Amino acid sequence: MSKRGRFITLEGGEGVGKSTNVGFVAEWLEAQGLEVVRTREPGGTERGEAIRALLLDPAPQEPLHVDAELLLMFAARAQHLAEKILPALARGAWVVCDRFTDATFAYQGGGRGIAKERIAVLEDFVQQGFAPDLTLLLDMPKEAAKQRLEARLRDRHEQRDRFEQEQADFFQAVRDAYLARAEEDPERFAVIDAQHPLEEVQAQLRKTLSARVTAWR
Ligand code: TMP
Repeated sequence: MSKRGRFITLEGGEGVGKSTNVGFVAEWLEAQGLEVVRTREPGGTERGEAIRALLLDPAPQEPLHVDAELLLMFAARAQHLAEKILPALARGAWVVCDRFTDATFAYQGGGRGIAKERIAVLEDFVQQGFAPDLTLLLDMPKEAAKQRLEARLRDRHEQRDRFEQEQADFFQAVRDAYLARAEEDPERFAVIDAQHPLEEVQAQLRKTLSARVTAWR
């Protein structure tokens, strides 16, 4: 039987360059000869992507209750784990996921103010102890992230989704919650300073990945 693959997540607030770097991480691992499955949350499966559309739709005429938002995140995650993540890991593939449960603690916990004990109940229910092997947290001050988000929305002529419409104090709370989680679990987290030019950020990612892959092999 093949050895179980590793589960690597990328996290960070809006505008920190996560999408570009998810591609970089997946390609770097592939270049080491590993089978890589690249995915994202909320989403990653057909049903999960339908839940994502519900979650991101600004629909101001019908606000989404914070508990409904939280439960939808975990509903999409349950489907994602069963249909995609766990089978891939079991056959020996490595899974690179753009956000996972740390985002729930940061956004629904830090941002929306749901107690982390309540989130942890759902985490245990859905994941039964399962967690990422490595979490790369792309971190930058919220002002820099805001400028980058606005440039992206402008360049791509995109509308703000329901989360992108939040205000500065929400994003500060998200960042603080991410950093607090990283501090609580320094073995699993690598905090990457994402303020630097892309080449420097990717050099930090390469160094972290290379050390972990060597240690795991
Ligand atoms: P994205 O920016 O990575 O495409 O993610 C979509 C949004 O979903 C983003 O604003 C963060 C939010 N989100 C949560 O609020 N909780 C979660 O658990 C996850 C996975 C994402």
